[in-house]
Amino acid sequence: MLQEKLNARRLPALMTMHNGQPVQTPDGWRERRRELMDLLSREEYGVTPAPPTAVSAAVDPASGQGNSICAGKAVRQLIRLSFDTPGGPFTFTLTLITPTRVPRAPAFVYMDFQANPPSANVPVEEIIDHGFALAAFSYQDITSDGPASDGLAALYPRDEKTGWGKLGMGAFAASRVLDYLETRGDIDEARVGVTGHSRLGKAALWCGAQDERFSMTVANDSGCSGAAISRGKTGESIDIIAKRFPFWFCGNYQAWRGREEEAPFDQHMVVALCAPRRVYVCSASMDDWADPESEFLSCAAASPAWTAHRVPGLITPDALPETDVPLTEGGVCYHKRWGTHDYSRTDWLWQMACRERFHV
Ligand code: GCU
Repeated sequence: MLQEKLNARRLPALMTMHNGQPVQTPDGWRERRRELMDLLSREEYGVTPAPPTAVSAAVDPASGQGNSICAGKAVRQLIRLSFDTPGGPFTFTLTLITPTRVPRAPAFVYMDFQANPPSANVPVEEIIDHGFALAAFSYQDITSDGPASDGLAALYPRDEKTGWGKLGMGAFAASRVLDYLETRGDIDEARVGVTGHSRLGKAALWCGAQDERFSMTVANDSGCSGAAISRGKTGESIDIIAKRFPFWFCGNYQAWRGREEEAPFDQHMVVALCAPRRVYVCSASMDDWADPESEFLSCAAASPAWTAHRVPGLITPDALPETDVPLTEGGVCYHKRWGTHDYSRTDWLWQMACRERFHV
């Protein structure tokens, strides 16, 4: 049944090299991964510049050595992260919340919509009670969410056709947070996840797809140009998103407006770039704009990238997913939570259960 649904979407082949060779092994996948990175960079998100050689950190004097929060169970610090770019130094603020009783905590790098993150709907105390640290930054601290070339966007030369879009800049900043977390000693750097909601779910997915140091990528309600396949998608389309938010992408993405059927790529390829690490796609049952069915089918279509590593991708009954039944047994995880487009406590609880169970 699922296979028929997938066939109807007529997706471009994931496991075939440009030269027609089938991809069946981890080595083969490494080659294919390079092709896909190149394709998605050039046609959709833009090319990510090389990372800086180092990221430096200074505790913001406003937060002293850190404030005790959650009844002493956590410490909250504001940290100014800086790195060099071709246009000069760039600095942004990270809010780091670490659990007091865990000597080396696994962590979430979380992109937030609001200034002074984490925003009120992030269940901080529960994240702490599960033993995770939370490293949150506000995406508009990186660059504004509009056409202006400000913040990080002003500091790198940008090719009109293939230069990175703002989703890519958010993803790049999340990787710089991981650079820093790796230096701290109180974070388990082998267990750092990246996550965000909606447009920031798209950025988180592109981040986890590119940066193989993240053990877990969680794309919440990421929809169009995120986890949802574009072919046959309902709700938002490439035409709509690339018209309203051209600055999220590279210039070349415009060419695929109304032409998703002809594009040499689709979003299952972005999900697949996380292989063989764990990826978790979260949908909401009433989120028609994002289209849960297209997010789910993307997970199924990406799964052969895990199979090539001899690990299962999405483990699912041969049916569309039931609401509120998380599918987290395989390398590709999925749930459709009841409710509207939002990052709910339930989304956090289910992904934390998965991370704890599989130690990722
Ligand atoms: C708009 C946009 C979506 C995006 C969402 C959000 O609705 O069309 O693609 O995910 O904003 O970020 O909240």
